[in-house]
Amino acid sequence: VLSDANARLAAARRLTSPRVRRETGRFLAEGAQAVREALARPDTVLELFATADGLVRNDEILRSTNGVSVDEISDKAASSMSETVTPQGLIAVCRQLDVPIETILARRPRLVAVLVHANDPGNAGAILRTADAAGADAVIFAGDSVDPYSGKAVRASAGSLFHVDVAIGVDAEDVLSRFRKAGLVSLATTGVGATDLDDLADSGRLSEPSAWLFGNEAHGLPAAVIDAADESVRVPIYGGAESLNLAAAAAVCLYASARAQRR
Ligand SMILES: C[S@@+](CC[C@H](N)C(=O)[O-])C[C@H]1O[C@@H](n2cnc3c(N)ncnc32)[C@H](O)[C@@H]1O
Repeated sequence: VLSDANARLAAARRLTSPRVRRETGRFLAEGAQAVREALARPDTVLELFATADGLVRNDEILRSTNGVSVDEISDKAASSMSETVTPQGLIAVCRQLDVPIETILARRPRLVAVLVHANDPGNAGAILRTADAAGADAVIFAGDSVDPYSGKAVRASAGSLFHVDVAIGVDAEDVLSRFRKAGLVSLATTGVGATDLDDLADSGRLSEPSAWLFGNEAHGLPAAVIDAADESVRVPIYGGAESLNLAAAAAVCLYASARAQRR
């Protein structure tokens, strides 16, 4: 069992800090699902830590670690690295996966989700998961959006962070001109959008390669982004709700595109 003061363990623990994640280009993935998906992606897992209980419970996952050794740690050490109420007893130190937006666009994506100034890690993870499920190619974190490598976002993505292309630190102002050059229709979402989502689907436009833009939980998308996008789209609200939760709006929009593109 590694001592709680072990230097590698201390370095891993520091990855709970956003600054240290930025400086090292590393992050923590906790729990069976995240670690399994991380191990399935080549050259991603750098270190593995497990409690005595975690070693037993995750025996099958830990049988094929691509040569990465597993260090046993105490329950206390696992708690200090965990952002969950109930630590999972299995933690991987991973290499960050994001790629430049130029690389994403050069791959000619057909469906992209863009978060502009989104600040809830739970929503960020849920959108990564939904984008993955809807077959989207990439999720772009623009403006001062939340860090997708935070413990909460990684957990909420349920392994999908390891499946889709991710770009971070993208300028919210020039993202639309990049999309235009790459042949992507830009679709800005807002409760007061000029175009109803169902009308857009009926028009056939959703079958084109598209980038959906989603805004901040409290303030929505900046007016400049809405004005510059090809379409401003509203999901119709039939009842008394003021708006949809960000991740729920993303699910409705991304699946509308997936349906149109895959018919
Ligand atoms: C809670 S809303 C922000 C509220 C803001 N009043 C608005 O309507 O944009 C957060 C994000 O969810 C998405 N959203 C929520 N309700 C929506 C709706 N009815 N139509 C389109 N997008 C919606 C948009 O991306 C929005 O920026």
